[in-house]
Amino acid sequence: MFRPYTIIFSTQTLDGKISSSLGSSRLSCEDDFRLQHLLRSYSDGVMVGANTILNDDPRLTTRLVYGKNPFRIVVDSKLKVNPGARVFKNPAKSVLVTSASISEERLTGFRKRGINILKVKEKEGLDILEMMERLFNIGVKKLMVEGGGHLNFSLLRSGVVDEIWVTISPYVFGSGIAIFEKGIYDEINAQLYVKSVSRLCSDWINIRYGVLYPKIPLV
Ligand SMILES: NC(=O)c1ccc[n+]([C@@H]2O[C@H](COP(=O)([O-])OP(=O)(O)OC[C@H]3O[C@@H](n4cnc5c(N)ncnc54)[C@H](OP(=O)(O)O)[C@@H]3O)[C@@H](O)[C@H]2O)c1
Repeated sequence: MFRPYTIIFSTQTLDGKISSSLGSSRLSCEDDFRLQHLLRSYSDGVMVGANTILNDDPRLTTRLVYGKNPFRIVVDSKLKVNPGARVFKNPAKSVLVTSASISEERLTGFRKRGINILKVKEKEGLDILEMMERLFNIGVKKLMVEGGGHLNFSLLRSGVVDEIWVTISPYVFGSGIAIFEKGIYDEINAQLYVKSVSRLCSDWINIRYGVLYPKIPLV
């Protein structure tokens, strides 16, 4: 199938959490932020799940580096996010992916702002393969995914993730949202290999993994 080359980028605690049970998710150091913005600038699209918008209200721009701003893509099957979220600041470069069953009336605010909307059929959540193929068709050939844990898991499970870049920060939360949250889905037995390891800001470690399984070939 045609789908974007996809990299998950995430910063986690030593115990694998990307946010605490109180919602704290400030885990990056300066070098990690720069790496994140650099990868955004190399990507055609940056994707997040609905809860990440609700918790962090991110801008998903490349303001720390010189480079283009990619499409900002929000996956929100039940339409929990608001058209006023910061991620939609440049509507022409924003995409809302939602369920085909969401009424046009509920989408009025998004349409008025000129935000691109992809309505995708439901299949254990949204049909990930349909979503990826349609994103490819609007020009997203390289996709960066920035969480949260439920979106990361559903993409990995669907076989559409090529690399995982994870930065391990020198913190432990003990509870919270993990980098991969299986939610309603069955367990998987994903297999990875290490592509590179580097030290950031002395106490943070970035590991780049390639995904061996599960994976649907590109084309
Ligand atoms: N440290 C970091 O690097 C980092 C990065 C990003 C986020 N975070 C943190 O992660 C937390 C959010 O993570 P999360 O796991 O709760 O939420 P999430 O992955 O951001 O969003 C989950 C929502 O995305 C939608 N979704 C995901 N996969 C779907 C699929 N296959 N089909 C349909 N809908 C799908 C669902 O929305 P519906 O419920 O509408 O169906 C689901 O509830 C936040 O606290 C944030 O701060 C941390």
